[in-house]
Amino acid sequence: MSNLEAYLDQHGPRFEEELCQLLRIPSISTDGQHTAELGQACDWLVDQFRQLGLQAERIETEGPPLAFAQSPPVPGKPIVLVYGHYDVQPADFREDDPPDKRWQSPPFQPTRRNGNIYSRGATDDKGQMLTHIKSAEAVLRTEGRLPVQLKFLIEGEEEVGSHALHAFLQRHADRLACDVAVISDTSQFAPGQPAITCGLRGIAYFELEVRGPNRDLHSGSFGGSLTNPANALCRILTALVDDQGRIQVPGFYEDVQPIPADELRQWLELDFDESRYLQQLGVTALAGEAGYGTLARRWARPTFDVSGLTSGYQQAGAKTVIPAWARAKFSFRLVPRQDPAAIAARLREYLAAVCPPGVTIELTDLHGAPGVMVPPDSPYMAAAARAIERGFGRAPVWIREGGSIPVVTAFRQRLKVDTLLLGWGQEDDNPHGPNEKFSLADFHRGIRASAYLWHELSAVVPPAA
Ligand code: BES
Ligand code: MN
Ligand code: MN
Repeated sequence: MSNLEAYLDQHGPRFEEELCQLLRIPSISTDGQHTAELGQACDWLVDQFRQLGLQAERIETEGPPLAFAQSPPVPGKPIVLVYGHYDVQPADFREDDPPDKRWQSPPFQPTRRNGNIYSRGATDDKGQMLTHIKSAEAVLRTEGRLPVQLKFLIEGEEEVGSHALHAFLQRHADRLACDVAVISDTSQFAPGQPAITCGLRGIAYFELEVRGPNRDLHSGSFGGSLTNPANALCRILTALVDDQGRIQVPGFYEDVQPIPADELRQWLELDFDESRYLQQLGVTALAGEAGYGTLARRWARPTFDVSGLTSGYQQAGAKTVIPAWARAKFSFRLVPRQDPAAIAARLREYLAAVCPPGVTIELTDLHGAPGVMVPPDSPYMAAAARAIERGFGRAPVWIREGGSIPVVTAFRQRLKVDTLLLGWGQEDDNPHGPNEKFSLADFHRGIRASAYLWHELSAVVPPAA
């Protein structure tokens, strides 16, 4: 066994303990209530980097701080920027959720079950991100130095739009200068089938408020004589998409390109079992845009989804009332070339046209990011594929992902580099939902693949500076 493999085996249990330490910090970025915990998570990372002897710092921003670290330059070898996020989604659950829809163990008390670690942030993104720090440790401790220069950039507001990071990229692109970026914040294709992601959807996220009468009204006395804001909101939302899954905002599809035929063919070769998918999700039928298969609908076509609805009486029993207001949170998933700002402008116009009389609407644009494609034929990709094959014992397939990682586009634009999207998660890890998990076997395989990645990347000759 090589020194590296021996080191990974020997120190694996401690790596898991360290992951648990990070998972215990409720670094939720969504609600503005966890500033201290976000800072704690950042400090924990900076401390990890310092223990590795890397030059590391906590960089203050208008939002949560950035953890930044770098190893010494290695002349003639690529500079690799590793990105991750230490912030997590809220672990909310609804009081009236049945027990099988709730967390089985507290979200910030990481718990091992069935070979997984259960905790908010386990797969998204603390567990995946940590694989790159632990692999750097293993290589440093067994070989004394890293074969490429690594720069680590770990942010704390990915889940809410990466605002401070975008500002930092604008001002300090020089500090982040690199040849290629690496992000592990996506999934494998299936258990035992690792993947490289070469496309992500974009997003345009909004909140819409509909306002009507100046107070809640008795629905018997007043019902039928004025526009009910909750009814109006429902009408507006249903006007956004038709029963063929086509979004109705005029001009919405203008920049949507057809899916390349060779990519569609590749997806047909993937072992995707629709009935297993149905079963996994606990639904009786799949639905989506007419004319497209499930993978295309999830990876490469735009969509509209409501994420939250609030209005009127929410407690037990029947209360007859016309609510004074109604609110929805919703988003469009976008495909490469669609511009979130242009979509927002078109949406605003359309909403004004479909809003019923007697209520007013206010649309808030919460965040947006374009979709992105990563060319699959670069030498960096080939190096990543070899590293994954060595770490996971199986060659990766090329997939896309329906979720969004806004920073990938920013790296392309500001740093002029492509990103290797090397996801170690599984499709049923349930990020953003209850019982989020990360397979411990995938955690260790991810560390192994990452350690090989630094070596494989060092064989790629970067363009002369
Ligand atoms: N890690 C996810 C992206 C992702 C989602 C990858 C699902 C693989 C599967 C990331 O943290 C995320 O949740 N992104 C947000 C976008 C952001 C702007 C809020 C998303 O996709 O909703
Ligand atoms: Mn993530
Ligand atoms: Mn996420």
